[in-house]
Amino acid sequence: RIVYVNGDYVPEDEAKVSIFDRGFLMADGVYEVTSVLGGKLIDFDGHAKRLERSLTELDMAMPMSADDLLAIHRELVAKNGIDEGMIYLQVTRGAPGDRDFAFPPEDTPLTVVLFTHNKPGLADSPVAKQGIKVISIEDIRWGRRDIKTVQLLYPSMGKMMAKKAGVDDAWMVEDGAVTEGTSNNAYIVKNGTIITRQLSTDILHGITRAAVLRFAAEAQMKVEERPFTIEEAQNADEAFITSASTFVMPVVEVDGATVGTGRPGPVAARLREIYLEESR
Ligand code: PDD
Repeated sequence: RIVYVNGDYVPEDEAKVSIFDRGFLMADGVYEVTSVLGGKLIDFDGHAKRLERSLTELDMAMPMSADDLLAIHRELVAKNGIDEGMIYLQVTRGAPGDRDFAFPPEDTPLTVVLFTHNKPGLADSPVAKQGIKVISIEDIRWGRRDIKTVQLLYPSMGKMMAKKAGVDDAWMVEDGAVTEGTSNNAYIVKNGTIITRQLSTDILHGITRAAVLRFAAEAQMKVEERPFTIEEAQNADEAFITSASTFVMPVVEVDGATVGTGRPGPVAARLREIYLEESR
């Protein structure tokens, strides 16, 4: 695999980043995951805009223009022959040469790393035909989940709790309501209305979420942006998640309770279909 590191395209085992990099020492960095379908980048503009927002919130500047970032994404897709998969982009506050809680001088170069993830069959995933199962866990993450930082220890632990419980993912709950999945936004459907938590600093502002809600509105589906509980999810007609890596993925079990018929519901299936059609 050819990867990108600070201006160079190199084989992955030749890519080097300093041990003093603040991403490594302090999780001081942000990232984006953009999906690729048929060799085409999905929603790149949305990801570039969110990257800029994440950086700005943390007093970092875009390391280069969105156009230059797009060119690197395209170059990596081409060099690695990616038809279906993802591109991971990470920007950290660089490597000032020692460990210090204070931010380094503003002219310290940011570290920019990109790599591809080849996933043939991502769109026609058999998992989407079955749906996934989730458990609920407490949301103990920090208060700025709208910034896409690389502080992913708790979401990783949540994923492991799910695995240990024999299911696929965990939905995080705060003050009695679902915030989001470990790496996705969460939805339920009740009496034809799609319900998902409103945007705030409590959740990541999903790029797939924005697209799916737009498609839902265009298809005259009803959408309510508000928090919902695990009990509501268990009694819903349908549930699903969205993310760049899963698109729209039905959820058929929540904390051991079957949701709806236990099979992917028509709303989730339709939204997945529309999303893939519009993206291809
Ligand atoms: N995760 N919420 C969280 C906590 C996420 O980490 C993600 C994305 C989303 C969905 O956002 P989007 O639709 O823009 O992908 C919501 C990526 C895919 C990841 O960490 O791999």
